Amino acid sequence: MSKTILITGAAKRIGREIALSFFNKGWDIVIHYNSSKNDAQVLADEMNAQRDDSAIIAQANLDNADEIIKLADQTLSKNNRIDALVNNASTFYPTPIGDFSEDDWNSLMGSNLKAPLFLMQSFSKELKKNKGFIINITDINVDKALINHSIYLAAKSGLQTLTQALAKELAPDIRVNAIAPGVILEPPNTEWTTEQKNTIINSVPLRRMGTEKDIADAAIFLSEAEYVTGQILNIDGGKSLS
Ligand SMILES: NC(=O)c1ccc[n+]([C@@H]2O[C@H](COP(=O)([O-])OP(=O)(O)OC[C@H]3O[C@@H](n4cnc5c(N)ncnc54)[C@H](OP(=O)(O)O)[C@@H]3O)[C@@H](O)[C@H]2O)c1
Repeated sequence: MSKTILITGAAKRIGREIALSFFNKGWDIVIHYNSSKNDAQVLADEMNAQRDDSAIIAQANLDNADEIIKLADQTLSKNNRIDALVNNASTFYPTPIGDFSEDDWNSLMGSNLKAPLFLMQSFSKELKKNKGFIINITDINVDKALINHSIYLAAKSGLQTLTQALAKELAPDIRVNAIAPGVILEPPNTEWTTEQKNTIINSVPLRRMGTEKDIADAAIFLSEAEYVTGQILNIDGGKSLS
């Protein structure tokens, strides 16, 4: 039986690349999506065409506790097992003081903090049995106080703290690490001008934006790094140094 991994928010962008990288290493993939059903199905079809029954898609709005539990059940129904979880799905938008509501709090906390914690809890027994691992995707801006993003940053800081706390609590059976991306892709539905891009690139010591593959390579590294737990791996071209 192939090892099975759930990647949240895997229909597009960074999550999709992480899913493809694990698929190429022989894993079976549960592709979680919320609204991007078509992209998720195209990716699953691509994988199943190469290897029979290697991928399924599973829908859930991660703001909703019942849907998180349903996603865990659907994941386990794939092969009756789970070996790894990547908490990648994320809502990202500014919430300047004076301008946010409880809905914004729930939405930014849901995908970035609540769902990762409840998924880790749902899978802890199975992951323990299979000596599995968890990778949480955080953000280097946690330490940079990105202006007007206090709720998003609080959620990602919480996810960083959960990574360390659960690495200790779930050891020695389950390894829990995080990847903190720097500037990888423009936010969804945003197009930076050339001038904005150049300013950003000039703030990165390696003088380029990252790629989806830079993050996926780090995920594969962590999957194989059997003496590493509780670590936050910055994949940011050195931006966190500046
Ligand atoms: N892009 C960057 O440069 C960058 C920088 C720092 C950190 N990161 C982190 O890296 C990870 C991937 O980044 P990305 O830019 O590829 O992410 P993204 O495109 O902004 O979001 C990934 C997916 O999250 C899903 N999602 C959002 N809200 C959801 C909800 N309430 N329930 C379920 N799914 C939800 C969406 O799925 P559907 O499309 O199916 O709705 C979306 O496709 C994220 O955790 C992000 O915070 C990225």
